[in-house]
Amino acid sequence: MPVITLCNHKGGTGKTTTTINLASAFGLLGYKTLVVDLDPQSFLSEMLRLPAVKEEHTTVAFFGLHESLADIPVVQSRHFDVIPSTPSLTKLLRHLTKPTDVFWMKENIENGHGYDFILIDTAASLSALTLNALVATDLVIIPVVPEFQSVVGAEQTWQTCLMVRKSLNPTLTEPRFLLTKVDARRRMHQRFQQYLRGQYPTNVLRQMIRTDTLLTERGKEGASVFDIDHQARGALDYANMAEEILHQLGIMPS
Ligand SMILES: Nc1ncnc2c1ncn2[C@@H]1O[C@H](COP(=O)(O)OP(=O)(O)OP(=O)(O)O)[C@@H](O)[C@H]1O
Ligand SMILES: [Mg+2]
Repeated sequence: MPVITLCNHKGGTGKTTTTINLASAFGLLGYKTLVVDLDPQSFLSEMLRLPAVKEEHTTVAFFGLHESLADIPVVQSRHFDVIPSTPSLTKLLRHLTKPTDVFWMKENIENGHGYDFILIDTAASLSALTLNALVATDLVIIPVVPEFQSVVGAEQTWQTCLMVRKSLNPTLTEPRFLLTKVDARRRMHQRFQQYLRGQYPTNVLRQMIRTDTLLTERGKEGASVFDIDHQARGALDYANMAEEILHQLGIMPS
């Protein structure tokens, strides 16, 4: 079943927020979902208030010899399981220097797991960690705020994905852009939205994620927007987006 990576080389575009809420939407639909926090800054793990785990049970485990995903203990969150991150991923990066070091995650995921979906949250940089995710993934979702810098980062990420497809992961489908933090009243947001839909007519998800203060809320213990208010617009947007992804992957009939 599909591995989905959330990626944009620009920071603050909603990668982590989308990972948590898309995983929750899948979980609520009954899909067994695993979230992998591949950002050494560990914001996802922090936002979910995950308990501390041994270092060998964090995402560094993906980069160990003969380790299969099924052997790595997971932390249970409300609607999905998580393999948390650790700042030690930064140290590990210094050792991922061989050309074959981009295949660690792919190999471990292929070794077997019982999940319907695996979602990988990446950092806002093109490191060997992010490359590992892109090589292991079936679909890349590029969250993009309809603003200049975010769109530039999104287009660079698109190019990276096409290069990865050409040389490292031929089964990678074309990425999908997800417009995030959208304020329909802002002219600039309308302009960049039109630009992206014009340039990439079949690759921008129809559903957008509007700004919603509940998506910025950090006080609630390990909560997704669905746990705070399942009628909130953030919840409606992510639920619709999850369905759109299921249709596009051919998992749910249109
Ligand atoms: N739809 C939204 N409405 C309002 N705020 C949002 C929305 N989506 C994300 N945010 C907020 O924007 C900020 C950045 O979001 P997030 O951390 O998900 O981005 P990111 O791409 O993972 O960032 P980084 O590159 O630093 O990892 C966070 O404070 C988050 O709460
Ligand atoms: Mg993030």
